[in-house]
Amino acid sequence: MLDKEKLKKLALELKKQKNAVILVHNYQKPEMYDIADFIGDSLGLSKEAAKTDADIIVFCGVKFMAETAKILSPGKKVLLPSLDAGCSLADMAIPEQLAKIKKEHPNAAVVSYVNTSAEIKAMSDVCCTSMNAVKIVESIPNEEVIFLPDRNLGRYVASKTKKKVILWDGYCFVHDKLNAKMLSEIKMKNPEAKIMAHPEAREEILQMADHICGTGGMAKFANSSGAQDFIVVTECGMTEQLRQEVPNKNFYSFCNICPYMKSTTLPLVVNALIHEKHEITVPEGIIADARKALDKMLEFS
Ligand code: 13P
Ligand code: SF4
Repeated sequence: MLDKEKLKKLALELKKQKNAVILVHNYQKPEMYDIADFIGDSLGLSKEAAKTDADIIVFCGVKFMAETAKILSPGKKVLLPSLDAGCSLADMAIPEQLAKIKKEHPNAAVVSYVNTSAEIKAMSDVCCTSMNAVKIVESIPNEEVIFLPDRNLGRYVASKTKKKVILWDGYCFVHDKLNAKMLSEIKMKNPEAKIMAHPEAREEILQMADHICGTGGMAKFANSSGAQDFIVVTECGMTEQLRQEVPNKNFYSFCNICPYMKSTTLPLVVNALIHEKHEITVPEGIIADARKALDKMLEFS
């Protein structure tokens, strides 16, 4: 068994040989940051990869993110090192159920969070991220919106718009398990600290937050705030990433671990590069329709 440093060296050598780019989501294990070409949030990573001339994208994240990378870079080979890297939130959006709800609300636009499968994106009018969801819902002409799959993010969006938002009953168990009582205890111990929370957290948490944003907005908030201390409410990996990116400030985490995210390891990345697996493919028709929903989001945001 090779040690971590040897595995990192091997991954970097293979990456060069294969003209690959390695994308690492903020929630990954800290050792993955050292082999990354880009570290970031789900959509930002795919956008970066599309700009490169790499032949291969290795996505250290979860499947819906690798599918998004494929939709934005159909000519590149996209690899997902871990077969366990699914997402229970994305799996809660079922195409047949969406087709039924669309029929029941013919005037509603379907706004799907990027945490969805390629198939769901292809059935959507427009996609959104946790950062731009409110803006997207406000930008589309429809007065009625089917928002999926996250009910907490959907409720947050509904609280910021006059439009009718039809919520989907999906949730991310990593965020939804966090409660206000425990957060209050941490805040009591660190009264000066500002709370930043991911909008997949429950309403009771969001009401306590000084700043609500996706993983891509957290370092920006910490850098621009006059505060020195922050309580980070999201998946645990984010706090590690913030400590590296903003070393002059203090971060306390109120978090849970996402086992899907943490299933990617250095040996699996090396294996992915050697054997070029596991390749993520998306049928051409789905790529075209999903791309339209993603492009519309980019146009509005
Ligand atoms: P971001 O899009 O903010 O990176 O979040 C991804 C995710 O999986 C949230 O749970
Ligand atoms: Fe899915 Fe939640 Fe894990 Fe993000 S943190 S990948 S939404 S299960």
